[in-house]
Amino acid sequence: MINKALPKIWYGGDYNPEQWNKETWSEDERMFTLAGIDVATINVFSWALNQPSENTYDFTWLDETIDRLYEKNVFVCLATSTAAHPAWMAKRYPDVRRVDFEGRKRQFGGRHNSCPNSPTYRKYASRMAEKLAERYQNHPAVLIWHVSNEYGGYCYCDNCQKEFHVWLKDRYHTLDAVNQAWNTTFWGHTFYEWDEIVVPNGLSEEWEHGNNTNFQGISLDYRRFQSDSLLDVFKLERDQLKKHTPDIPVTTNLMGLYPELDYFKWGKEMDVVSWDNYPSIDTPVSMTAMTHDLMRGLKSGQPFMLMEQTPSQQNWQAFNALKRPGVMRLWSYQAVAHGADTVMFFQLRRSRGATEKYHGAVIEHVGHEHTRVFKESAAVGEELGILSDQIIDSRTDAKVAIVFDWENRWAINLSSGPSVALDYVKEVHKYYDAFYQKNIPVDIIGVEEDLSQYQVVIAPVLYMIKEGHANRLKKFVRDGGTFVTTFFSGIVDENDLVTLGGYPGELRELVGIWSEEIDALEPSHTNEIVFDTSIGALKGSYTCNVLFDLIHAEGAEVLATYGSDFYQGMPVLTKNTFGQGNAYYVASSPDQTFIRDFVENICTDMDIKALMVSADGVEVTERVKEETSYLFIINHNPEEASFEAGETVYIDLITNNTYTGTNKIKARDVLILKQQ
Ligand code: GLA
Ligand code: ZN
Repeated sequence: MINKALPKIWYGGDYNPEQWNKETWSEDERMFTLAGIDVATINVFSWALNQPSENTYDFTWLDETIDRLYEKNVFVCLATSTAAHPAWMAKRYPDVRRVDFEGRKRQFGGRHNSCPNSPTYRKYASRMAEKLAERYQNHPAVLIWHVSNEYGGYCYCDNCQKEFHVWLKDRYHTLDAVNQAWNTTFWGHTFYEWDEIVVPNGLSEEWEHGNNTNFQGISLDYRRFQSDSLLDVFKLERDQLKKHTPDIPVTTNLMGLYPELDYFKWGKEMDVVSWDNYPSIDTPVSMTAMTHDLMRGLKSGQPFMLMEQTPSQQNWQAFNALKRPGVMRLWSYQAVAHGADTVMFFQLRRSRGATEKYHGAVIEHVGHEHTRVFKESAAVGEELGILSDQIIDSRTDAKVAIVFDWENRWAINLSSGPSVALDYVKEVHKYYDAFYQKNIPVDIIGVEEDLSQYQVVIAPVLYMIKEGHANRLKKFVRDGGTFVTTFFSGIVDENDLVTLGGYPGELRELVGIWSEEIDALEPSHTNEIVFDTSIGALKGSYTCNVLFDLIHAEGAEVLATYGSDFYQGMPVLTKNTFGQGNAYYVASSPDQTFIRDFVENICTDMDIKALMVSADGVEVTERVKEETSYLFIINHNPEEASFEAGETVYIDLITNNTYTGTNKIKARDVLILKQQ
């Protein structure tokens, strides 16, 4: 558990006192106290201040800041300041500057801009981490280390190219193996020397910013390599911190569904996952919920940190809507409801200049506490004080798991054909949403997760089958589990080489079907999923689109067939009994009504029940600690709505009001209920 030194839901966020004078600092302190803020994330972008020249370090401002905050009972989430290199470093050591997708050497500018394979960056970033760890190792204010910030982006420089060769040698050992993995006899791309391999970018194999490639093999490996390279620089800093402060947890803030890094790999290297949640006004709330569950899944269900969210608006969206009254509180608790043990903002005080001056903050440009945003922030601060240590370190107990895999996502996106309309995240979300709407908890898991705790595992578009995964899925079903997979699954191995002998390859025996062909039509062209006889909630006809597998049952039972086109009458939904369990194959991308009814049947068959019945838009989740269950009732509607508490009498942790039977919950309100 992370919250040992401060045993409550941490409340605070990014704070940049270096942008302000001393009078402002005292105002900040006064207002932090008013708002119940107890954690400040500091030193995120201050490398240039901390190290004004190559051989000079100056931490006086940081010493003062940490002491001053601690005096006012504000702890720190201490960043290592390495997310943007100093200008002097960029000038003296060009290797820190990245080469972009078009092959252009970058100048100084921006942030998150250092080449992960730059010897200079590696040397000075880890030295900075070490200096900070040495200096603050005994400071009681330091709760957690925040390494760098939002790692991301790729580099295509010569150092990266050289290191790519090293990475490839490590993975494949011989060039022959590389040639085979990438199928380089295609278009005569056979390599005879390692240094013939160049980075895949806009000058070589890829185009449209990497959305297209001639060779999936090299492009996939380059993504793995860049994700690993950034992870290596994270690990360099982490190891310096751990050397001096083995007991202080280390994190770096992730970005949810960010496409470029394999976060399941990252999660393993972090003590606690933290992430930055920036939904826009029209992001479906179930998409945010799914992203929280994904972040929780990176460390097999351990609580995570909500590191950043805006108290009001962003600046970087096209239209930066204000969070409506109550929405900041609503979304803060939604994070907690899905496993967050902190509620933190970007940022505590709105900056005066540069690109984020219109980004929301707890303290706005007017500078005083008489603002809507400050009042709402202070109200949440007060409530988190009331909740004290009650919820922290509690867990989610889900019987349903949905598989998510970044490498699978890369491979799908990089594949040329069958359809540009195939969107992996959307397909995963469709299934997630059906459970979400029913108030049934879901874990989002990686392909390596132990499946024995689940009754249902759903793997939408499991295009890439990694070594051993098919066998683990078979064991899960054999032992009585229910497995669902869809069209365009089981097609390739980890190198994006097709598993020959008929789709869905390694899953074929498990699902008991053969997919002979895959049709792809522009999404407005739909087909029908037709049930001749109704099966539970599934009846009549539904629509489907995007991809259409033309499948033959090989032992599986045909539950529904296509309603039109030349494959009318061929199976579109099948169920295969395998050992004690069942494996379903959904051969096309169905409408949401189908998925709702299908999920309803699965839950009935497996006896999986809703946590509570509630009106549309009222989310219910549960966190469990020891024997205590905490139910979060979250009304996303802008009007009052209802939920059913049944015969149990519950008490709300915030107001102490009691609830039983049929109840009303106010617009955008949240209740945290415990049995009385
Ligand atoms: C990210 C960064 C912050 C800030 C916010 C603005 O999450 O980590 O430094 O730029 O975005 O939304
Ligand atoms: Zn590089």
